[in-house]
Amino acid sequence: MMSRVVLVTGSTSGIGEAAALRFAANGDHVVFNSVRSVKEGERLASSTPNAHYVQGDIARPEESVRIIRDVIEACGRLDVLVNNAGVTRKIAHKDLDAASIDVWREIFEVNVSSVAGVRPTGSSIPYAASKAALNHVTALLAKAVGPEVRVNAVAPGLIDTPWTKDWQVERTFVAAVSPLRRSGTPEDVAELIFSLSSTPYVTGQVVVVDGGFSTSA
Ligand SMILES: NC(=O)c1ccc[n+]([C@@H]2O[C@H](COP(=O)([O-])OP(=O)(O)OC[C@H]3O[C@@H](n4cnc5c(N)ncnc54)[C@H](OP(=O)(O)O)[C@@H]3O)[C@@H](O)[C@H]2O)c1
Repeated sequence: MMSRVVLVTGSTSGIGEAAALRFAANGDHVVFNSVRSVKEGERLASSTPNAHYVQGDIARPEESVRIIRDVIEACGRLDVLVNNAGVTRKIAHKDLDAASIDVWREIFEVNVSSVAGVRPTGSSIPYAASKAALNHVTALLAKAVGPEVRVNAVAPGLIDTPWTKDWQVERTFVAAVSPLRRSGTPEDVAELIFSLSSTPYVTGQVVVVDGGFSTSA
């Protein structure tokens, strides 16, 4: 396959880092991004062949535009955009007061997809709602921008990343009830992201990668 230019937002950690490294292993030019972990982004870019790093906060519209402009100036084009960066707050769903308007706003400004957007589950109601909105946007955008551009969403279940390092109760539950008997690795999700980017007749889809957890919960 021809080498592509690939931007992965939020790629200094977890799923984004694994996705960026998966594209790099294919010989693609990878652009790492994060907002706070600049040193880590620069380290990853310098240790990955054919890669560079662009700092920027994807929650700020002018910075999103600047990130894309930087990539096109440096590489001449953008072939694959992986909108991976995300944030959450762990709030019990019954605690409606804790899900303040500021929490809703912060989460909606950043997020990309999750199994929490497919089933009524997840770390908080604002988080799950932001993911459900993205899943709908995926189908709408695919209709609007095809045939030139394909738009798909990857919806992970519980994945072992720094984000979920303290979620031992949830991890034990997932391992007990999922058909595949374990939580996921960042590489499990990266493989699906990479496959979708390389599968030419799929668009507007939300693909769940959760070891079958959502079939059993
Ligand atoms: N882990 C799971 O179980 C799971 C399950 C379902 C879905 N997901 C989704 O998968 C995505 C990645 O999750 P993860 O677990 O890999 O998280 P992670 O390890 O915490 O990594 C998040 C990455 O996003 C960056 N980031 C955060 N806010 C950003 C912003 N405003 N602009 C640019 N970069 C930003 C972070 O770096 P800085 O903070 O330095 O910017 C970091 O590189 C998220 O969208 C999450 O909702 C995760």
